[in-house]
Amino acid sequence: MSAVSPQSQGAAARGTNQRKQIMLVQFGKCRLELVEGDVTDQQVDAIVNAANDQLAGGGGVDGAIHRAGGPALMEETRRRYPDGCPTGDAVATTAGNLNAKYVFHAVGPVWRGGQHGEAELLRSAYRRCLELAVEHNCATIAFPAISTGVYGYPTDRAAEESLNAVREFLTEREQPELTRFVLFGEGAFGAFARVLEGMSV
Ligand code: APR
Repeated sequence: MSAVSPQSQGAAARGTNQRKQIMLVQFGKCRLELVEGDVTDQQVDAIVNAANDQLAGGGGVDGAIHRAGGPALMEETRRRYPDGCPTGDAVATTAGNLNAKYVFHAVGPVWRGGQHGEAELLRSAYRRCLELAVEHNCATIAFPAISTGVYGYPTDRAAEESLNAVREFLTEREQPELTRFVLFGEGAFGAFARVLEGMSV
């Protein structure tokens, strides 16, 4: 395992009317970023969707990704993955009109109190996306906070599992170059930033 020497720095990006938060940490050769924003606005090789196991579309991130990506996304998903995708796993499609090469449709667990393997399934969903990134030669990937919306996973606990899963992968595999968490709103950003700060000391 490569040495972990994260350095964090808080920064406020200049927006037109809003200051959005950013946090950057380096794990060996890999950079991890937290930003507050919309995952569909990201210009990266792969955008991760928080999907359901039928890959049937939905609200939240899923709805936003299918709206921005256009109908080609659902056509491809239905054609290539008619049986859906198990919880804890992820599948790849092209990205339609999004500013990315791929969408990785990841299925996180529904929160049922924490005693039903939720943590391992959440970590696995992140790991599978990072494996897909490596397989598809993606240098950059953007994640939403999988399972923390409709699926009810408490954000602070999800932040802990998600960031640990990503850190483990990056330190072991040393790719992709950039992993970005795109967090919807200050609350989610704050929860992830607190966990990442704790990892940095
Ligand atoms: N960009 C980034 N984050 C977003 C966006 C967006 N455009 N829209 C919502 N979020 C945030 C939510 O605030 C939440 O913190 O993403 C997190 C995940 O929320 P959901 O999209 O509800 O995903 P999840 O909890 O994994 O539930 C998946 O919801 O939409 C359905 O089809 C989907 O059944 C599946 C379920």
